[in-house]
Amino acid sequence: MTPMRPGPFVAGNWKMHLKLSEAGELAGKIAAAVPEVSEATIVLIPPFTALNAVAGAIAGSDVGLGAQDLFWDDQGAFTGEVSGPMLKDAGCAYVLVGHSERRQLFGETDETVNRKARAALAAGLSPIVCVGEVLAERDAGRTLERIDGQLARGFGGFSRPEIERVIIAYEPVWAIGTGRTASPGQAEEVHAHIRKRLEDSYGNDAASCAIILYGGSVKPANSYPLFREKNIDGFLVGGASLDADSFIGIAREALRACREEK
Ligand code: PGA
Repeated sequence: MTPMRPGPFVAGNWKMHLKLSEAGELAGKIAAAVPEVSEATIVLIPPFTALNAVAGAIAGSDVGLGAQDLFWDDQGAFTGEVSGPMLKDAGCAYVLVGHSERRQLFGETDETVNRKARAALAAGLSPIVCVGEVLAERDAGRTLERIDGQLARGFGGFSRPEIERVIIAYEPVWAIGTGRTASPGQAEEVHAHIRKRLEDSYGNDAASCAIILYGGSVKPANSYPLFREKNIDGFLVGGASLDADSFIGIAREALRACREEK
């Protein structure tokens, strides 16, 4: 009998949404529903202002906490920035790095992604590093080339123990917040490519244990066919993570796929 694959990793990126009371309420609802999807790893990524409220609401549950960004220095005169040790202190275990909105709207590059991912690791956080092509790159047949560049520059020089703590999120930019999802086949092609690149650089064990998430208009209705793909280990969810039923529904549907023979 083949062993069941590990349960899905489902992270909710709340982006710039929810005030304190709303964030606490949503986190409480999700924490209450989590026993129902206990084989999944559930992570909430609220805005900085709500980290503390969410940490309180999920205390004692299996829900993990993450932040949406960090700066690479530990402390200093960097007005407006938040460091890895501060996030760790706030109860985070994860932090997003290089989300496409940060790349497109705030000038992040693969080089800053590299520095931030290193800083996250140094602080004891697992970086969830986002990669993905824009529509023009996909249409020009340059998707894999773009991903290769992001991986090479974003993770350049990472050791094997470091890469083992990195989570990669493939998020085609044209699928984020647009209601347009990559087909399972389109996503799987890129996920398999990323895993192959990890294998080339770090060997088979590191590659097969790596967590590679898909993100871009994920909802309960499309998480089942996506999670059936061999190299999709879970989801980074934006819009649908702002509603407890749809967020938990994504984990439930992925678990349904997980229970089926691969
Ligand atoms: P979306 O966002 O699910 O709303 O498309 C995903 C993301 O930006 O991480």
